[in-house]
Amino acid sequence: MTGPRHFLDLDRLDAADLRAIIERAKRIKEARAGLPKGAVDPQTPLDGHILAALFERESTRTRVSFDVGMRQLGGRTMVLTGDEMQLGRGESVADTARVLSRFVDVLMLRTLRHDYLLELAEHASVPVINGLTQLTHPCQLMADVMTIEEHRGPIAGKVVAWTGDGNNVCASLVHAAVKFDFELRIATPKKYVLRPDVLDWAGENGGRVTTTNDPWEAVKNADCVFTDTFVSMGQTGREKRLERLAPFRVTARLLAEAKPDALFLHCLPAHRGEEMDADVIDGPQSVVWDEAENRLHVQKGILLWCLEK
Ligand code: CP
Ligand code: NVA
Repeated sequence: MTGPRHFLDLDRLDAADLRAIIERAKRIKEARAGLPKGAVDPQTPLDGHILAALFERESTRTRVSFDVGMRQLGGRTMVLTGDEMQLGRGESVADTARVLSRFVDVLMLRTLRHDYLLELAEHASVPVINGLTQLTHPCQLMADVMTIEEHRGPIAGKVVAWTGDGNNVCASLVHAAVKFDFELRIATPKKYVLRPDVLDWAGENGGRVTTTNDPWEAVKNADCVFTDTFVSMGQTGREKRLERLAPFRVTARLLAEAKPDALFLHCLPAHRGEEMDADVIDGPQSVVWDEAENRLHVQKGILLWCLEK
């Protein structure tokens, strides 16, 4: 007997399944063009289904896109925050998983504790979706791949650059590079390199992923340039981080080092004047608003895949 279809991390998932989710998300987006945001999709495959979205940390995009996505699919969402659940008073993740599985059809969790995510999935009898942990952010990368393909066609064979902190989004970008077959160059300061196990995994799986401490080298002739906040949720020492990461900021000059039509991506929330300048994120090469919107369409693809619809 096989268990529920969890969406935990891109490295554990089949490349063909990930591709199918993206293609479905593109079709879903097209099919509802022009409809009011609250209107239910012409087909409602999740009619009668409930998602419990558990948030131990802040969120705007993930929270709203999952909730609106479920509604558009004809289902419902219950948003719960850590401190209003017994989980916040010490009930175990395993017991929470067992109980919630009796009430809802699918679970999504945002937590810094990756081990909580794995424990939830181990004990849940319904699918569990990773809505960001301190280690990874797979749903984000699905929206990013979709966005790049909308603007530039197939991502396979493209050159993608990351400059900044070697963080959770960067880790999922490495997973995506292998699963979607693009070249990835990562520039971080020595203090904030990506976890070596992620790079080892890429190496063992034929990934074309290189690392450097020089953002100019990473960005040169790239098709896309990514960055993310220099201070992620749960990170301390803000001033020191900003100082060390300052040379990795995406300025108009740095972006000009990439291809002339290179795209700028950022998962948001953004901090103008820190990880990128305002003229970059608000400039003509930026696709960050499409990227944010695509969170909605891709979440729907993920939910449908998890629920085998
Ligand atoms: N990009 C992203 O996950 O945003 P939120 O933290 O607002 O959900
Ligand atoms: N790296 C950021 C992403 C936020 C969506 C963080 O973890 O805070």
